[in-house]
Amino acid sequence: MKILSIIGARPQFIKCAPLFRAIRKEHEEILVHTGQHYDPEMSYIFFNELQIPEPDYNLGVGSSIHGEQTGKMLIEIEKIFLKEKPDLVLVYGDTNSTLAGALTASKLHLKVAHVEAGLRSYDRTMPEEINRVLTDHVSDLLFCPTETAVLNLKKEGITRGVYNVGDVMLDSLKYNIKVAERKATTLEDMGLSSKEYLVATVHRASNTDSLKNLSSIVNAFCDVDIPIIFPVHPRTEKYLKHYGLWDKLCEKVKVIPPLGYLEMLKLMLTQRRSLRTPEGFRRKHTYLRCPA
Ligand code: UD1
Repeated sequence: MKILSIIGARPQFIKCAPLFRAIRKEHEEILVHTGQHYDPEMSYIFFNELQIPEPDYNLGVGSSIHGEQTGKMLIEIEKIFLKEKPDLVLVYGDTNSTLAGALTASKLHLKVAHVEAGLRSYDRTMPEEINRVLTDHVSDLLFCPTETAVLNLKKEGITRGVYNVGDVMLDSLKYNIKVAERKATTLEDMGLSSKEYLVATVHRASNTDSLKNLSSIVNAFCDVDIPIIFPVHPRTEKYLKHYGLWDKLCEKVKVIPPLGYLEMLKLMLTQRRSLRTPEGFRRKHTYLRCPA
């Protein structure tokens, strides 16, 4: 079978890593990178660490507002589908690259498989929620990570082609955990010892783009009395600087460039586990929880 896989952003590089090995044992795979993430530390480092093959196509779409970014992907992906005529299009997760792959395929009546189907936050202001819902509704095969995801789909009337296959992120983690322990050096490079720090990651638009929410996060970080390591996403850096919060943050927090998968994994494995939730720390955006 000829399978065409679409990836484009960090989480998709991680999700595709365990699958490409399995797919290529029995099938032909064409790998398409939309170029949604393009800085070396947002893209190349993941391909290198996870030994993902060089993409057959890189669309170089880059950053822009959602409609423009997704639209550029649709135009370029369609050309590739028409040329390659795949038997199955494989999309991962919930980014704009996911939706572009699924939508283009369904318009051309190509079969679509969605890895990480059925996840819902039930917050339609999140671009990812729209991407998830629309992708699931045009998919023929829906590979769910949990039984909750299967039930979420059932509530939307999707029962055909649905499989609970487990969490591909967990597969990736299990595959790489030993490698991360052996190879990652960020902690040592920073002169910190195990469990004496916390790791922070912030990049959702709802957290970064609003002054109120971003200030609240920065204030919470400043209340914590042990070191915080904060690999900062370019979007977050842009808004921290825009809102004048950058200097305040850098005084208290160890701000570093985005990390690859292995370094991030190692930091999370060895970070301190318990901490009183700081005053003002908002748990509003708890991710992927089903309403009662
Ligand atoms: C995207 C996904 C999100 C995922 C995240 C992982 C969507 C809607 N969101 O969010 O679900 O969790 O990736 O990181 O698809 N930028 C750079 N260099 C890059 C990439 C981005 O500087 O290589 C900057 C640009 O200013 C860009 C901004 O980051 O406008 C946001 O990037 P984008 O890919 O649009 O969304 P993410 O926030 O990364």
